[in-house]
Amino acid sequence: MATFPQLRLRRLRQNEAVRGMVRETQLTPSDFLYPLFVTHGRNLKVPIEPMPGCYHLSVDRLLPEVREVAELGIPGVLLFGIPESKDAAGSGAYADQGIIQEAIRAIKQATPQLAVITDVCLCEYTDHGHCGVLKGDTVDNDKTLELLARTAVSHVEAGADMVAPSAMMDGQVAAIRSALDGDGYAETPIMAYAAKYASAFYGPFRVAAESSPQMGDRNGYQMDPANVRMALREVEQDIKEGADIVMVKPALAYLDVIARVKERFDYPVAAYNVSGEYSMIKAAAANGWLDEQRATLEVLTAIKRAGADLILTYHAKDACRWLVGER
Ligand code: PBG
Repeated sequence: MATFPQLRLRRLRQNEAVRGMVRETQLTPSDFLYPLFVTHGRNLKVPIEPMPGCYHLSVDRLLPEVREVAELGIPGVLLFGIPESKDAAGSGAYADQGIIQEAIRAIKQATPQLAVITDVCLCEYTDHGHCGVLKGDTVDNDKTLELLARTAVSHVEAGADMVAPSAMMDGQVAAIRSALDGDGYAETPIMAYAAKYASAFYGPFRVAAESSPQMGDRNGYQMDPANVRMALREVEQDIKEGADIVMVKPALAYLDVIARVKERFDYPVAAYNVSGEYSMIKAAAANGWLDEQRATLEVLTAIKRAGADLILTYHAKDACRWLVGER
């Protein structure tokens, strides 16, 4: 084996053509899924302050947005809803005329080729802001399962192509799989938020989705950031329950988790580049503290390099433009 001075690793870095030949990780639009926030009303496109470039969109204003997403080559969107009202049981999540159900129908009509994936959780719909129904001041896991299953079925009935349970209740994937199968939707895949950590990086999203818990926190159901073996058990469990794609969330502070999951399981791995990760780059770039385009593409490349087959990211549209050389 050659060593220096015969070996010179810089030979393969001397210009962009050569660097391109040996590049191990390439981003493409089909790597991305784009999250969107849908709200009731008409002609609304309201900026989400902590997430510059993201909006609360009424269904009519959502349609140009999804057309643009499809034209950029992004294969799907992930929908979050802001309901008109909230209650203890999160009933807006599984209402036939709920905001997500309306949005799905409209998108499937406007851009049928675009995959519509829905976040299945109660936190945007409960008045207490927790991801399930409460018993005293803790979340009642088993009672929540039935509501999550109802939510998933109602999304799929409205036309969703895939559901993404994110409540971190034990048994949620099995409950949703059996409800979907029982209602004739055996072909609908589940993308499970399998290893979802209790993270400070969801802060901007909770402003956007108005979903902060009114008391307590999510540490009793979301994962402890210190744990990686536990993440593998979560993923294993979700796969046993019927998950088709497994997700690690957040992405950046958890690249090791993505890599371990990818190494251990022969399943497609998704990574959620969450709101706080996005906001950090946006805020620093707005101050002129870093180059937004380079920082963003570096981060997304790193997430893919770690092992993600799919990246859910608010940067998706910008990244697609930058990948074809637009500024
Ligand atoms: C729960 C959910 C959350 C996010 C996605 N789904 C918030 C939470 O668990 O508090 C966070 C996404 C982000 O921060 O971008 N429905």
